[in-house]
Amino acid sequence: MLRAFGAIIITGGSSGIGKAFLEHIHTVNPELPIFNLSRTIPDFQGMPKLKLILRHVPCDFTDRGQLEDACVSLVETLGRELPSGRILLINNSGYGTYGPFPKPDLPRNLEMLDVNVRAPVALTGFLLPLLRERGGAIINVASTAAFQAIPGMANYAATKAFLLHWSLALSVELRPAGVSVLAVCPGPTRTRFFANAGMGDSLLPRFAGQQPDQVVRGSLTALAKGRSLHVSGWKNKLTVAAVSVLPKTFAARAAGWVVGRLRPTGA
Ligand SMILES: NC(=O)c1ccc[n+]([C@@H]2O[C@H](COP(=O)([O-])OP(=O)(O)OC[C@H]3O[C@@H](n4cnc5c(N)ncnc54)[C@H](OP(=O)(O)O)[C@@H]3O)[C@@H](O)[C@H]2O)c1
Repeated sequence: MLRAFGAIIITGGSSGIGKAFLEHIHTVNPELPIFNLSRTIPDFQGMPKLKLILRHVPCDFTDRGQLEDACVSLVETLGRELPSGRILLINNSGYGTYGPFPKPDLPRNLEMLDVNVRAPVALTGFLLPLLRERGGAIINVASTAAFQAIPGMANYAATKAFLLHWSLALSVELRPAGVSVLAVCPGPTRTRFFANAGMGDSLLPRFAGQQPDQVVRGSLTALAKGRSLHVSGWKNKLTVAAVSVLPKTFAARAAGWVVGRLRPTGA
């Protein structure tokens, strides 16, 4: 399936799930040009050929000027250097905040909206003419957090609900144009996400259920099958199915209780 694409564009290939996407795609098809947008350049340890193939576009998505410049230069480069071939766009960059709103602080929460919501919408919007013209696919990395309101992670869960519903709508709009859209919803995954969200590393052994590579393999299989939604892992599928039949107000209270128990000791 990956051989059907002429170029891959990924955000946040520098760590976690994004890095696993990058490594998996490069292993399956080492010739495929990959563009990565993130603040840090991915490390190429063990994959010297990736250094030659990967084009890193440094970009901090909290800086709107930088984001727009990166999108413009990406579209120009694709048009000039890779003028044909289907495009796979993976909107993966994202982070969470933890604690009652506006903890840790309002700027961090506002920046999260830029990274989790504004960046994927901007990147997709800039690339859409090329995607329509050549065909391709979009993977948006949402979360199981998208399925219910989550007190204690109110803003993060809302950004992922946006991504999920936006993806599902786009998949219907773009299917006739030959562009498939897949919303990927991982549950807890073993990355630096929890530490970055201020939840403490000590929580990882108990709650980080999947490895990034498991999320990636399932997602690419779902894309190959033409799915528009992939919830990663059977435990997460069960949780999402259960939550989806509960009244939203009850689901929010239950999620708040669970997240409250995640608080690191002493916090
Ligand atoms: N881990 C989980 O349990 C889990 C569960 C569900 C969904 N997810 C979602 O999965 C996606 C990947 O997260 P992860 O778990 O792999 O965590 P991660 O290892 O912390 O990766 C997050 C990625 O986002 C990028 N990023 C963060 N801030 C950015 C900014 N200002 N500008 C550009 N890029 C930025 C980072 O790149 P730089 O630091 O190099 O900029 C990094 O590559 C996120 O959307 C997350 O919400 C994760």
